[in-house]
This record gives sequence, C-alpha cells and structure tokens, in this order.
Amino acid sequence: MNAITYSHFGGPDVLKLTRSESPRVGSLDLLVRVRAVSVNPLDGKIRRGELRLLSGARFPKTPGIDFAGVVEAVGAKVTGFAVGDRVFGYPGSMRKGTLSEVVSVPAASAAKIPRGLDDVGAASVAMVGLAALQAIRDVAHVAPKERVLVNGATGGVGLMLLQLARLRGAHVTAVASTKGVPVAHQFGADDVVDYRSESIADIRERFDVVFDTSTKLPFSAARRLLEPRGRYVGFEPSPLSLIGSALLNPFRRQKHLILVAKPSAADLAEIGRMIDAHEVVLPPEEAFDLPDAARAFERVERGGVIGKVVIRLPNA
Ligand SMILES: NC(=O)c1ccc[n+]([C@@H]2O[C@H](COP(=O)([O-])OP(=O)(O)OC[C@H]3O[C@@H](n4cnc5c(N)ncnc54)[C@H](OP(=O)(O)O)[C@@H]3O)[C@@H](O)[C@H]2O)c1
Repeated sequence: MNAITYSHFGGPDVLKLTRSESPRVGSLDLLVRVRAVSVNPLDGKIRRGELRLLSGARFPKTPGIDFAGVVEAVGAKVTGFAVGDRVFGYPGSMRKGTLSEVVSVPAASAAKIPRGLDDVGAASVAMVGLAALQAIRDVAHVAPKERVLVNGATGGVGLMLLQLARLRGAHVTAVASTKGVPVAHQFGADDVVDYRSESIADIRERFDVVFDTSTKLPFSAARRLLEPRGRYVGFEPSPLSLIGSALLNPFRRQKHLILVAKPSAADLAEIGRMIDAHEVVLPPEEAFDLPDAARAFERVERGGVIGKVVIRLPNA
C-alpha cells in the first residue's frame, strides 16, 4: 500500500510517498481503507521531534492523527461495525500515524459517518470536533449566559468552539485575523476582535472562560481578561504544565485548565449527529491529494488557514 513516511525528524520536506506492507487487523481493531486525513498542528510538532518522549524516535514514521474511511475487516472481539461501514476517528496515538491507504485502529476510537457527511468533511472534523467538544463540556464546563473568549477563533478547533459555545447559550467573543473576522461572525461569534488592528491587551471586558487555541496567550497574560473566578483553557499539554496547574489551581480562584483530547466513539457519534442535524456546520476545507501531502503540511505550518486542510487518498 502507499503511505506517507519520514525517516528523520524535520520540516515537511522529509515527507515521502513510499510503499509498505498493509497492517493486520488487531482483535479490538478495525482495518480501515483510508479516504481522507486532516492536517493538524500536532503532526508538525511530532515530525519536528518536539514530542519525541511521547512519539518515540523509531523510523520510519507516518504522520496523521485522524482519519475517515471504509471498514475493510473487523477485529474478532469488535461488535457494532461491519465491513463496508464508513467510519471516522481519532486513534490518539503519537507513534502510529494514519496517512496511509490502510490502517488498523482501535474500534473504540471510531464512529460511523452520518450519511450526509462526506469523507473529507468527516476527516476534517474528527480531531478538532473532539477537542472542542471536550474542552467546552468536560474541561471548561461552559454554562448558559457565560461570557466566553476564543483566541484563535478561525482555526479548526476555534471554529468548532465558537459554535459549541453558542449552542450552550454562551455569549461568544472571537479573536481572529482581519480576513477571519467575517468567518468568525458567520460561525456564531457575537463580537469579534481583529488581532491585527487591536491588541488583546486592550480588551476591557472580563470573561468567565478564555480558550487559547493560538498558544500565544499564556495563562499569566490571560488572567486580566478573566473574571475573579474565571477559567482559562490551554491546548498545549506538557508534563510540566499539567503538574503545575494541578498543584496550583487549588490555591487560586482563577483556574488554569489544559485540554488533553481523548479518543471517544461516543463523542464522535455526537459530533456526527450535530452535523447531520445542522446544529453545527463544518469548518471550510482545502483538500490536497496524497502525493501533495508535503505541500498540505507546509500550508498549515505557514499559518493563516481558515478552517482545515485535508489530504485525500486514492481510495476516495
Ligand atoms: N491538547 C489537545 O488535546 C489538543 C487537541 C487539538 C488541538 N490542540 C492544539 O490546539 C491548537 C489549535 O489547533 P487547531 O487545529 O485549531 O490549529 P489551527 O487551525 O492552526 O488554529 C490556530 C489558530 O490560532 C490563530 N492565531 C495565530 N496567532 C494568533 C495570535 N497572535 N492571536 C490570535 N490568534 C492567533 C490562527 O489564526 P491565523 O493563522 O489567521 O493567524 C489560527 O486560527 C494547536 O496548538 C493544536 O496542537 C490540542
């Protein structure tokens, strides 16, 4: 089968289209013929070797942390799936990437794709949908009428956060670049701050929750934007930040929370249901074909993408 692989850490230029053996299906897994994989900032962090403690340093490696495709074989202990089902998911592995024609993934990390959602759309929303849903519901516990700020509002996670926060009845302020301002409004923001013409430091309002998907607004700087009992949610977990926040949060009223997205079939099914019911719309997508994968990663790493970049496989 064809796969994108790399043999040493580096920039997108280390990515090559190579041929390798198809995996075997594990007893708790689904063998999936992949049709689309989205590009996430985490792919770049792993590929550059920034997370080698978690990703390991054994090569060749394959990028890709989410997928959409068709079930080709079902593990002996798996129930609820059949050959031919269209599925999407986030396996939660930093060691085993998804950007290959066939992958074996834990069935517990996959859900069926609703009929109205195509493969590229399903791949685009798997990781960022889970991240946003879990950040809003399980980490920040956003409640109706709360005032929420989303810094980095027009990336993949940001556009899902805007919509899910609105669905919860929150008042949402987005921080976006100039070209993202109309998109942030379209995706549900009540107010939008253009970070190219206005500094976030000049915002006078106070928020119950600040989400920082940009990774440019540390907790220390966000505190003055928070209500006395406000919650800040960061998206870059590290052992140090997780331990630090767990130790210090009991002694301060403003909380520093950190998302660590978990694979969840139930959450994916919920995201699929919300899209099918038109409660949530997909972030805009830009699609690349498999041989152009390196260009797709470059595109994301250059910044300025509104929504998601997705790589289509020849199986599509
Ligand atoms: N912890 C977890 O479990 C988890 C899960 C998913 C994602 N993440 C992380 O969450 C982050 C966001 O993911 P994503 O997929 O949404 O990435 P993304 O699509 O690249 O979005 C990042 C956003 O930040 C904006 N941004 C950049 N500089 C900014 C600034 N100075 N002020 C305000 N906004 C700024 C970008 O806008 P412009 O490009 O227009 O400037 C872009 O909209 C990444 O670091 C990712 O690794 C973590």
